[in-house]
Parts: sequence; C-alpha cells; structure tokens
Amino acid sequence: MQLIDGKTIAAQIKAEIAEEVRQIIAAGGKQPHLAAILVGHDGGSETYVAGKVRDCEECGFKSTLIRFEDDVTEETLLAEVRQLNENPDVDGFIVQLPLPRHINEHRILETIDYRKDVDGFHPVNVGRMLIGLPCFVSATPFGIVELLHRYNIETSGKHCVVLGRSNIVGKPVANLLMQKSQPGDCTVTVCHSRSRDIKKYCLDADIIIAALGVPGFLKGDMVKEGAVVIDVGTTRVPSAETKSGFRLKGDVEFDEVAPKCSYITPVPGGVGPMTRVALMKNTLLAGKKSIYGA
Ligand code: GUN
Repeated sequence: MQLIDGKTIAAQIKAEIAEEVRQIIAAGGKQPHLAAILVGHDGGSETYVAGKVRDCEECGFKSTLIRFEDDVTEETLLAEVRQLNENPDVDGFIVQLPLPRHINEHRILETIDYRKDVDGFHPVNVGRMLIGLPCFVSATPFGIVELLHRYNIETSGKHCVVLGRSNIVGKPVANLLMQKSQPGDCTVTVCHSRSRDIKKYCLDADIIIAALGVPGFLKGDMVKEGAVVIDVGTTRVPSAETKSGFRLKGDVEFDEVAPKCSYITPVPGGVGPMTRVALMKNTLLAGKKSIYGA
C-alpha cells in the first residue's frame, strides 16, 4: 500500500507556481491577482478564505479580500461582481460559498465573467469541461486528477466508482475521468444517497472516489484488493487528542481500507492540500490568459 502524499505534491506545485511568477515578473509581466468575496463570518468560510490569501502570498500573487455582512443585498453583491468583471487588474475572483439564504447563489455565479471564474463554477466552464474544451476546472476534481497523474496511476479502462453527486466534486470528477484523456478513459459509475447496493459497485471498482460527506462510509469489506482509494471527505468530528477539540475524518474507514489498497489518500494531507493549490494553478492560468486569451 502506498500513501498518496497530497501535502508534499501540493507544496511542489506551489513552488513551481512561485517560480513561474518570479519569471513572469522578471520579464516585466503582470503579477497575477486573485480577489475573494466573503459574506458574513461563518467560521469555516473565514478559515478557507484566510488560507487562500496565505496561498496567494506564497505563490507571489496579489490578493484582495472584499467583505460584506450577512445582510448584504443580492443587488449589492451583483454590483461588486460586475465591478470585478470589469476591473482589468483582477485576473480571477471567487465568491466564497455558502451564501446567506436570501441570496440566489446561481444568479451570483452566473454573473461572474467565466473568463475570471477561477473556481470553475460558472455554467460555461462546467459545460466546456463536459465536452473536453479548455476551461477552468473546479479545484477538488482538478486536485484529484493531478494526484492520479503525478503518481502515474493507470486509469485507462479502469472501473471508477464515484460516491457522491455534488456539483463541486462528484459530477465533475466523474466527467473528467470518463474523458478521452490521461488520466481518464475510465468506465465510471456514480453512486449517491438513493443508490441501491453500493457495496456491489465498490467491490468491482479499481478506483473509488469517496465524496459523500459521510465520515467512515467506505468500510474494509467494500473494497477489493489492489484498489486505488481517494478520500474527499473532511467532516469535523470531536476529538480529545487535539487542542481545537476536533479532527478531520474522511469518508473512508482508513484503518480497515488502507491494507487492501494499492494507493490511498489520507485525511488530512491527501486531497485537501491539492484542492487549495488547484485554485492557485487556475489563478496563474487566468493571469497568463492561458485559457481564454487576452
Ligand atoms: N466553499 C467550499 N468550497 C468552496 C470553493 O471551492 N469555492 C468557493 N467559492 N466556496 C467554497
């Protein structure tokens, strides 16, 4: 069994990005600039956005954080999005989710200029991804595919079971792995909360991507010998062993599953750091106008 070390790979990619930014700036080019809109004071969102700002510093990007209170109107938020669309200094931006219930999330995301949508959530980017055109791919699927690539894991012709059908992980990663590409060329099965006999599909899987958000869902007796297991779950569970009083638990019962695997990602230190660095990679692509041109 080999542990897939997302933390180390993500650090390598971050160093590669920082080096490229140094070269761009040395050649007189523009410093890539990521802006983030954060609404309210949700603890999780605060932590994620603070991490993104720190990642930008480490990559040599400029970053701007724009904050609104929970009671911001949809119109005010839309006006800010339109301003960022028009601002030539901003290469890419994100609106941190979730948004308060009175705001129509889809309306906000569809108003973002898809050429600056480094989260890859705009329907144009999602649609282009589906038909295999250059686009911004959302961070977690991008990170998963990059891990499979960097570990030289064969995917062609393999049966990949994706557990979960969310718009930000399950649906896009299932689509990426069925693309005619490397990594890709998988036969993909997507299981979800209404699927029957999930164990049957998992036992046939060469690759399992667990993205249900149910801690410890995938048990040892659901995995065949030699499978590759990618754990996307990050549920906070109480813990007496940490200062914060909680720890992150994945969707995989790691101690039971790991001995059967050829490769497996840990939680933390697997997919999580790759998700973070994927946003930086997209920001670099946006800064270089690599996907949609100037
Ligand atoms: N909330 C949880 N994950 C994400 C993400 O990747 N992007 C944004 N914008 N919000 C999130």
